[in-house]
Amino acid sequence: MEGQAKHLRELLSAHRSAEGRRARSFTITSGKGGVGKSNLALNLSLAFAELGHKVFLVDADVHLANLDMLLGVKPEGTLGDVVLRGCPLEEIVLDGPMGIKLVPASSGVRELLTAEEWAWVKLREALDVIEGEADIVVVDTAAGLSKGVLDMALSTDEVVLVTTPEPTAVVDAYAMVKVISPQREGGSMHLVINRVSSQSEAEEVFGKLNQVISHFLGLKVRFSGFILEDACVPKAVARQSPFLLMYPNSKASSCLRRIARGLLGIPEERRGLWVRGLSRLRDKGGVEI
Ligand SMILES: Nc1ncnc2c1ncn2[C@@H]1O[C@H](COP(=O)(O)OP(=O)(O)O)[C@@H](O)[C@H]1O
Ligand SMILES: [Mg+2]
Repeated sequence: MEGQAKHLRELLSAHRSAEGRRARSFTITSGKGGVGKSNLALNLSLAFAELGHKVFLVDADVHLANLDMLLGVKPEGTLGDVVLRGCPLEEIVLDGPMGIKLVPASSGVRELLTAEEWAWVKLREALDVIEGEADIVVVDTAAGLSKGVLDMALSTDEVVLVTTPEPTAVVDAYAMVKVISPQREGGSMHLVINRVSSQSEAEEVFGKLNQVISHFLGLKVRFSGFILEDACVPKAVARQSPFLLMYPNSKASSCLRRIARGLLGIPEERRGLWVRGLSRLRDKGGVEI
């Protein structure tokens, strides 16, 4: 396990793009399923694209791949074809909105679930090719501690762990930190709290979880933002369109943009009183700022 993770990290760090830069890579994961990973991965990719970055979104959830459904596109081939059948990556990559590229997976690619270590190394190699073209790579994963999820988490630069305030989701998030964090050689994990009713609820959930993590594990996680419960999210899912595009002025979209800026280390915009006033108007479906 350790050996392979090291190999994956070496593969990743060996790659440089033409300009000598390496793409920044984020794994989006969670302990419990259904907490909003895929929506975060997709809309975060679009928010990064909005900020001017070239983004590749990789669906590495071989259990419940659904980024293609969230985007309303039909994949010709899947990551399984690349990893197990040697299909060139370019043949399966799809064009998404705002110039993002989607590397689709496919539900029920059972072969990948039981794939040997070499398959995951091949997957990492495929991602390495992608990173030559991208500024940012976002990888959506399955929930829980499967081997593939661990490998992805250990090989990307950063891990964004998603949870909701639900106690079961929080306990599962703790389990993920316990296993992943110590293996990431000091690279701390980002925590995003989804489906909260307010910022203070998010801060409270984070505070409690962080306290337990530091007390029992001696580790730290970073609070990287929250997403408010927002009816626009399921509405956009039903229309197979990302909420950031369909409802750019929604509460969820504002939260998402804030998370994207935070993850890239872009300072928060100064929001004066008049901007906040406009913002309230905007959230009622008025102006865009
Ligand atoms: N902030 C939110 N507000 C309201 N509903 C949400 C929010 N985030 C996610 N959801 C709902 O949760 C469902 C599952 O989200 P999804 O991104 O598919 O989770 P995962 O990838 O973790 O399984 C979505 O279809 C949506 O209806
Ligand atoms: Mg998902």
